[in-house]
Amino acid sequence: MTQTTSAHHEDDATPPAPTGHSAPRDSRFDAVVRAAVGQGLLGEGGQVAGFIDTAGVRASVGTLHDAFSAAPEVLHTFAAKACSLIPVLRLLADRGMGCEVASPGELRLALDAGFAASRIVLDSPAKTREEIRLALALGVAVNADSLDELHRIDALRGPDTASVVGLRINPQVGGGSIGAMSTATATSKFGVALCDPGAREAIVQAFRDRPWLTRLHAHVGSQGCPLELIAAGVARTYELAEEINATLGTRRITSLDIGGGLPVNFADETVRPTYPEYVAALTAAVPGLLSGRYSLVTEFGRSLLAKNGFIGARVEYVKDAGGRRIALTHAGAQTATRTVLMPDAWPLRIGAFGPDGAPKVGPVLAQDVAGPCCFAGDVVAYGRELPELAEDDVVVLYDTGAYYFSTPWAYNSLPRPAVYGFRTGREGAVTFATVREAQSLDAVAAESGLAHADALIERV
Ligand SMILES: Cc1ncc(COP(=O)(O)O)c(C=O)c1O
Repeated sequence: MTQTTSAHHEDDATPPAPTGHSAPRDSRFDAVVRAAVGQGLLGEGGQVAGFIDTAGVRASVGTLHDAFSAAPEVLHTFAAKACSLIPVLRLLADRGMGCEVASPGELRLALDAGFAASRIVLDSPAKTREEIRLALALGVAVNADSLDELHRIDALRGPDTASVVGLRINPQVGGGSIGAMSTATATSKFGVALCDPGAREAIVQAFRDRPWLTRLHAHVGSQGCPLELIAAGVARTYELAEEINATLGTRRITSLDIGGGLPVNFADETVRPTYPEYVAALTAAVPGLLSGRYSLVTEFGRSLLAKNGFIGARVEYVKDAGGRRIALTHAGAQTATRTVLMPDAWPLRIGAFGPDGAPKVGPVLAQDVAGPCCFAGDVVAYGRELPELAEDDVVVLYDTGAYYFSTPWAYNSLPRPAVYGFRTGREGAVTFATVREAQSLDAVAAESGLAHADALIERV
């Protein structure tokens, strides 16, 4: 297991090594960037915004469904954490997806987006009694994360709940290249650690004791996990289901939730690995997986959205420091949090555009692309070779449709950036739809305790 960290110290004599992918600009979105600038969404009036390719999202959902089409019964849920925006969730519901949620907030968003309760799955390692009670009352499927959580469900579950209840196991097949994304290590906090002494027997007993416990769940990990590792985790889950059913002499387990986690290629435009490649890896490891012996649930997030979105941001200033060119932009840790905090693990491709939104051409220069946050590490790429950036230019951070602008960080009280969906008409005209407005300063103040401004003043 590798835990990637950034190790740039302020007093280092040597400048940080280049980070990220110097792939050529992703030309797919050139017309969209130009239209966003032309329509005032990026520029003086909009310093930073997220953009979502709605046709691309539809196409990705179609590819996912096609890849699993051999399986008679599959519920593909979208992991809400990957893009927790109600219009995006509603688009996915409209395309036949279900929704995986991992907090009361995500459950609320899924319901507001219009997902039927029966198409929602609740995962999370720290569900409260109230959360469980609500999910069971609604008929939302619940994957217990531990045997202790099953005991809570015992106490809360009414005889007529429609909820499917499952148990998450940790198949302990090991980690991928990003430790923080690897959920099937020996010591992961998720699920029941399958290979620990006595765990297998305890799991079988849990199913023996509960006729209503009918699902096994595993999510091996996300970005950085090879397909073979994920498939090995699914194989262990399948074998366990077979063992439980054989031991109990009945088909107690009827469905397998195999999680999400298909990694995304951040190095260039190509989608790889693909869903068909994933299905091939799964069926190589578990030949019977799509046979219909178990109905299936999936929980993909990043692979559905990442390549269908980007961040656009204005360059406010450029400066030189210690022989280094730095572009100060409005896209930093508040919207590209993972990339800033772990630059080696989450490299991004970056495009350079002029103030009119046209792609910049000309000789390239190694530049640091920095954000607006007040800490030295707020840099989305070090030493990136791009056409020379200047004040009022626009930079684009590609592949950021999942876990980036949808999940902002409130550092420096920077407002949440606006998000727009876009589509390109037959004549090439780009139209935008507001998904989330930029947060106003009034909203920032309200969120920062304005209503309680006097709370700490002592009155004598
Ligand atoms: C339980 C569970 N399911 C699904 C996902 C989605 O993973 P990904 O976005 O990599 O597909 C996650 C991500 O953290 C998760 O924890």
